[in-house]
Amino acid sequence: MGMSTCSVGENMEGVSLISIHQVITEGKGSLQFFESSRDIPFDIQRIYYITDVSSGVWRGGHAHKQLKQLVFCPYGRIRIELSNTREKTVVVLDKPNVGILIERPIWRDMLWEVEDSVLCVAASDYYLVEDYIRDYSEYEKYMEERR
Ligand code: TYD
Repeated sequence: MGMSTCSVGENMEGVSLISIHQVITEGKGSLQFFESSRDIPFDIQRIYYITDVSSGVWRGGHAHKQLKQLVFCPYGRIRIELSNTREKTVVVLDKPNVGILIERPIWRDMLWEVEDSVLCVAASDYYLVEDYIRDYSEYEKYMEERR
């Protein structure tokens, strides 16, 4: 893979902090990029992004059974809380060249710390309702059965 990766503080399985390629041009800003399969360990089937969120708003509150995602914040500051029922870790995304790679069914809650922060997601599959777990006790049960 072309990217340098480093693991998140608490080293939760299936969660890694990724450094995204960045090209800085003096006086003309920065350009970031990553390539499907080469830089992230899946083919990207879908990209979505969340905009126009006020500060203090929480989103998320779900886990995915199969979906893999690279989550990044090109503008603003968003706090991502991740849990696998046994461990919890918090990542603050506030740089355009840092992303979180989530490759396991991890529960996530996201707090917009700065108004109009943009959350972008590159995902390994199309939108599938059946891939979501939106109830935390159902998630605990799912994880227990997986172990
Ligand atoms: P949701 O996953 O609930 O957003 P969040 O977890 O950030 O609160 O998605 C909000 C709505 O958008 C929900 O009705 C499903 C729909 N949606 C799609 O149709 N396609 C998509 O790719 C995504 C991510 C959501």
